[in-house]
Amino acid sequence: QANGIRTGKSRNIIEKMEESGKNCVVFYGSQTGTAEDYASRLAKEGQSRFGLKTMVADLEDYDYENLDTFPEDKVAFFILATYGEGEPTDNAVDFYEFINGEEVSFSESTDENPLNNLKYVAFGLGNNTYEHYNSMVRNVNAALEKLGATRIGTAGEGDDGAGTMEEDFLAWKEPMWVALSSAMGLEEREAVYEPVFDVVEEPDMDPNEDTVYLGEPNKNHLEGTSKGPYNAHNPYVAPIAESKEIFTAKDRNCLHMEIDISSSNLSYTTGDHVAVWPTNAGKEVDRFLSAVGLDSKRHMVISVKGLDPTAKVPFPSPTTYDAVVRYHMEICAPISRQFLASLAPFAPTEEIKAEMAKLGDDKDYFQENVTNRNLNIAQLLQTMSKGQAWSKVPFSMFIEGLHKIQPRYYSISSSSHVQKDKVSITAVVESIERPGAPYVVKGVTTNYLLALKQKQHGDPDPDPHGLNYALSGPRNKYDGVHVPVHIRHSNFKLPSDPSKPIIMVGPGTGVAPFRGFVQERAALAREGHKVGKTLLFFGCRRKSEDFLYQSEWEQYKKDLGDSFDLKVAFSRDGPQKVYVQDKMKEVASEIDELLKQKAYFYVCGDAANMARDVNSLLGDIISQQRGIPASKGEEIVKAMRASNQYQEDVWS
Ligand code: 2AM
Repeated sequence: QANGIRTGKSRNIIEKMEESGKNCVVFYGSQTGTAEDYASRLAKEGQSRFGLKTMVADLEDYDYENLDTFPEDKVAFFILATYGEGEPTDNAVDFYEFINGEEVSFSESTDENPLNNLKYVAFGLGNNTYEHYNSMVRNVNAALEKLGATRIGTAGEGDDGAGTMEEDFLAWKEPMWVALSSAMGLEEREAVYEPVFDVVEEPDMDPNEDTVYLGEPNKNHLEGTSKGPYNAHNPYVAPIAESKEIFTAKDRNCLHMEIDISSSNLSYTTGDHVAVWPTNAGKEVDRFLSAVGLDSKRHMVISVKGLDPTAKVPFPSPTTYDAVVRYHMEICAPISRQFLASLAPFAPTEEIKAEMAKLGDDKDYFQENVTNRNLNIAQLLQTMSKGQAWSKVPFSMFIEGLHKIQPRYYSISSSSHVQKDKVSITAVVESIERPGAPYVVKGVTTNYLLALKQKQHGDPDPDPHGLNYALSGPRNKYDGVHVPVHIRHSNFKLPSDPSKPIIMVGPGTGVAPFRGFVQERAALAREGHKVGKTLLFFGCRRKSEDFLYQSEWEQYKKDLGDSFDLKVAFSRDGPQKVYVQDKMKEVASEIDELLKQKAYFYVCGDAANMARDVNSLLGDIISQQRGIPASKGEEIVKAMRASNQYQEDVWS
């Protein structure tokens, strides 16, 4: 079961802790990196404030059968994100199955309370717009308690849906530290910064030497012999077969891209996700390097090592400052208040230091001056210091404190039955404005894709927003007509029998997977299969601006005839807003009829508002049509979800 890349290393956590003199392990179950990031922060804080000997551990790197022999004088943290429909993150699947197993079997103990030596701390990352809010931490906490383990502090829950994750985390951890200090007899001390990584400059090395990583994610890529399997640790640098603009609106962009996976051994089925590995915009890389005083040294070769054997460097080394910032650091994300506070001691002047400390301490002040102003880290640093460079901050601090860049997932908008060698992406290019904020947040990945498209087409204005993406990048591998990707399989699937009816609700780019669904059913119809009712609700602003795939739907209609029905809601064409929900209400009896014939019901798009509204509307439709109480309608929808008749592919 050991991950191929990491074989040879011990999977025994207790041995590992003893060997490296640790008394605290912070396990994480992470999908997009946030839980991992919180785990590192806790490990760091435990060490610097309380003198704990901490290490961070990926749940998939260890075995759990020996947790019954976990020493009493040590503590384990579990920082667990809940993914999608209440599922564990990929790296926590084995642990989750083990701990929730019918008969959990440990190496030594056969006792009723096999884990009564284990002291643990738990925090969950969830999203309350999803049905199974924080179910990972809740279930793991219950399982650990049942096995006799002792929790320290409360099992914390952070809510991404309400946008309060960071504040929930900060509020949870203080009382937890108090409880942990008393349980383990720890004493708080004046926190001193100890770097986790040793960053050694190598002025004698030439950055163009072929041993220096300039954005390549691993050794095979560096040596130009990249090979599969391609996955979340190893992207395929795929040719872009086609890219085009599909909005007719002047002020917004929506990209349709065809990515060629024919030579990769990658495969997908309709409804899966494609992950795109982004690059930061050159403009932001420049801003960051200049803010921290590394601009002139950007191409200096650096070797980065963990100062502690358990610290994993989140990118390959040797590399350069430029490559780390461009390809591996999330420099455009919202800033963490705790991270900001930790930078204060390294401010260029005493005055700035005091101001930073205030921002770190005062939640409202931070909200007003950082969050509401849309600032990224470099914009903040430059604003605070009026352009003076923050040269005193150890580079290790940025490696520790900023997220590592994660691939972004897009719902594939093509059918694998129709084009198994090409995946389509449908993505609106993001640009987030806030009234009064001095900066516009430009989506890192969608703007990167836009830049690729401009380049591929040789557009006369290749860089309309001046973002300066490095498309001809290191050693010409990311040459502007390739993009690094991998595939993630999903449970969002068509019924295997095409004669079954389906109902799809996908406003905006939520229509992406449904273009794949309808494309597939149209092809099946052409091949002579009987295809059931295919009812699609789509919504956009204006018929003349963002009616995605308008002419394709007409084509599919020719193949599918009456079995295909498209209902479109234009929200800004008339005097009143019309949404997909309004279109659903117009055909409520047909929807109910189809549900009685066991139609699958799919929702894709915005989780926070649309998907919630559609969920409750469906309950109302059922209750009204069947003349049953609203609560019964809700229950039916719940049961549909449980049996997979109701499927969601939503994002926030
Ligand atoms: P609006 O932006 O004009 O309000 C794709 O984004 C489409 O979904 C747009 O027409 C948008 O309308 C609409 N939309 C916004 N909020 C929605 C919601 N809660 N439910 C359904 N559609 C919504």
